[in-house]
Amino acid sequence: MCGIIGYVGKNNSVPYIIDGLKKLEYRGYDSAGISILQKDKLVTVRAVGKVAALEKAALLASPCGTTGLGHTRWATHGKPSEENSHPHTDCLGEIVVVHNGIIENYLLLRAKLESLGHKFKSETDTEVIAHLIEENLKSVRGSNEEERLIKAVQKTNKELAGAFAYGVMWVHTPGVLVGVKNQSPLVVGVGKGESFLASDVPAFLQHTNKVLFLDEGEIAILHAGQVSVLDRFGKPKKVRVTKISWDQKTAEKGGYSHFMLKEIYDQPQAIEDTLRTARADFGKILGLDTSALRRLENVHIIACGTAYHAGLVGKYYIEQFAGIPVSVDLASEYKYRTVPHRKGTLAIAISQSGETADTIGAIKKAKELGFRTLAICNVLGSTLTRLCDSTFFTHCGPEISVASTKAFTCQITSMYALAISLGLANGNVSKTAFDKLHRELMRLSKAMSETVKLEYTVRHLTRKIYKAERFIFLGRHVHFPIALEGALKLKEVSYRSAEGFAAGEIKHGPISIIDKGTPVFMLMPQDDLFEKMLSACQECRARGAFVVALTTPGGQAQAKRVADQVIVVPQVSDFLQPVLHVVPLQFLAYWIAKRLGRDIDQPRNLAKSVTVE
Ligand code: G6P
Repeated sequence: MCGIIGYVGKNNSVPYIIDGLKKLEYRGYDSAGISILQKDKLVTVRAVGKVAALEKAALLASPCGTTGLGHTRWATHGKPSEENSHPHTDCLGEIVVVHNGIIENYLLLRAKLESLGHKFKSETDTEVIAHLIEENLKSVRGSNEEERLIKAVQKTNKELAGAFAYGVMWVHTPGVLVGVKNQSPLVVGVGKGESFLASDVPAFLQHTNKVLFLDEGEIAILHAGQVSVLDRFGKPKKVRVTKISWDQKTAEKGGYSHFMLKEIYDQPQAIEDTLRTARADFGKILGLDTSALRRLENVHIIACGTAYHAGLVGKYYIEQFAGIPVSVDLASEYKYRTVPHRKGTLAIAISQSGETADTIGAIKKAKELGFRTLAICNVLGSTLTRLCDSTFFTHCGPEISVASTKAFTCQITSMYALAISLGLANGNVSKTAFDKLHRELMRLSKAMSETVKLEYTVRHLTRKIYKAERFIFLGRHVHFPIALEGALKLKEVSYRSAEGFAAGEIKHGPISIIDKGTPVFMLMPQDDLFEKMLSACQECRARGAFVVALTTPGGQAQAKRVADQVIVVPQVSDFLQPVLHVVPLQFLAYWIAKRLGRDIDQPRNLAKSVTVE
């Protein structure tokens, strides 16, 4: 994720752009930059860190001009540094580009452009866009410079692969901004005598509520207060402006009432982004060759909170697909227990933030023991990623809500991608089996899009049960960690007592806490353990529980006979099912907390990233 903003109007663009960047900071804050067209010259100011640092630098440089672009960065390609900060330029420094998304074929394009003599200044994928436009401008004809720029942009888009949105400005077309939307967000604001380009509406909402939502593949051409659009075939399109009624706060959350809800809905895209950038090649990620991979004999997974639950699912994956024994530890425990030294051990730390003190402490211990270390992390440049030998990034964008949702499903997805590729590398999984598993993984994001439609069903259900004092979650095998996560989510945001258990364990004690009306959530897709879960439903119901079965379409009829309510989750392969099954539980926590009037995004006593032991 990154944030883009552009302004073209009558006034100095700098305050509009800086202000817009502050509104977009939730999309990333590794570095920020602006480029302003000042007379016939481009002035660029960039700074590492938050927009406040850029604001200071911009005050010193004091650029002034009525056309400009700005960007706040969430690093994907290249470390957070000034050189890698946007805006990026072509060789002559005449074309400026700000970009959000990933250019998948940037290495190929870069090599081609370098062979043509282009000089690159950053490690980013973005810079290829500026150089490609420069290159394409050489061959396009038009009646004026604006027409040529648009043609060069169209030609460039045909060469780019991936999901991206970008804004362009050229010194030879003052008063013109061009925006491209291709599977990454980009909206246009049309004000009186001024126009805006942005990743998200809040960036300009205080200046105009007239918004033009672009469709995929479209190009917007902005002049002061005037906008035209070309559709994905290059044909002019009728501009349809929507007047929106959101207030500023709602707009920052994409129209959702809380970041938690927005982030639950972000999951299809987050999974797609994680998988798109995930090189499913374990050896390359670890920097190990096949024989070294074959010598991996143990895996230790270390994490806290929600990430720990992702680690528990990961254990099933690695043992199933790679045949390597795995231990999963809470980071705060790993640090203080005796960990016998074993050759061929890989320690995997899972963390959304990469700054959790317990996880950092535990990985330091693993390093002292001489283990190879891998981080699964969402934040580029975080402490954990700097400590570990290698990192596998979850690309779910900034997670703002304290209760983790999209980071969790992306962590599990990443563990799956790693496990199958480790299995392929060490010979535990054949190439044919790997291809099948990989195909199933690539279908996950689509199934997730179907799963988030369950909000209405869950919301309705919470009307009946939100006043309960205690909630129970039961699952087996890969769904046992989901039961733990369902309970944690509910505790975190609703402050209600909630516990997750392995369904086979309830008879050994926990069943005694079930009372008349206690809501019990059964994670029971139709898999090998379905029959056992049906029995667990009967046992709980016999004690007066209000049983909610979360099953897949094939299990619906049988589940109806033993449960008070059935929620049908889309079917994917058995090992990927937990990624979907957790979603109704996320909605459940959200809606119970909402009905109880809790502070959902910032629950009492909690912090997003716990940087103390
Ligand atoms: C805190 C948060 C949890 C989170 C845990 C681990 O306790 O409140 O939601 O799961 O830290 O965070 P990490 O950033 O390491 O994944």
